[in-house]
Amino acid sequence: MDEPQPMPRIGDTAPDFTAVTTQGELTFSKWQGDKWVVLFSHPADFTPVCSTELSEFARRSESFARMNTKLIGLSIDSIHSHLAWRENLKQILDVELTYPLIADLDTKVASLYGMIHPGESSTVTVRTVFVIDPKRTIRALVYYPLNVGRNLDEIERLITALQTADANACATPVNWTKGDKVIVPPPKTEQEVAEREGHKEYERFDFYLNKRLL
Ligand code: BEZ
Repeated sequence: MDEPQPMPRIGDTAPDFTAVTTQGELTFSKWQGDKWVVLFSHPADFTPVCSTELSEFARRSESFARMNTKLIGLSIDSIHSHLAWRENLKQILDVELTYPLIADLDTKVASLYGMIHPGESSTVTVRTVFVIDPKRTIRALVYYPLNVGRNLDEIERLITALQTADANACATPVNWTKGDKVIVPPPKTEQEVAEREGHKEYERFDFYLNKRLL
């Protein structure tokens, strides 16, 4: 596990795989269908920070579904451990994990996605999030260490921003949330510079920085 792993990057095609999960064996590309996916890893079952994270993903599963997004988790644990932890979370936190959890005991998927960072731990996956679009392109990566739980508001915001940018050919500024003004792509020609100057619907700061409401 100490060998450097390939790290898929933004813009790469998400590696396909077949894996054992709490919802049976699945092949990622088939399971994904035409949805967005959040593929995330956690360090280990029956650990405190992970329990808060996985239960919160479950509480928000309808919100992710409204964003046309499926969830799938992974750790280097056995299927029996996953199933037992799932039952335990039901009992202690009153939440049902409705998404599949990959039992990646042989580290096949973790290695494909560069989820093991040996400087942090050579035996467990760090807290990774891969946002994958319906064409199976990796659109964003988030990595957190073992001792800091992720911010799911931010993961939802990230997906909303990506989907908004795709649908409206725009970018999103710092701390953007739904309903805020978006960034007009910077001009690439003199003509586009001139068009932006007189544009009534743009909030103009300079030729390269214009915002607009959607
Ligand atoms: C946790 O989820 O609490 C945790 C897991 C692995 C290492 C450290 C913390």
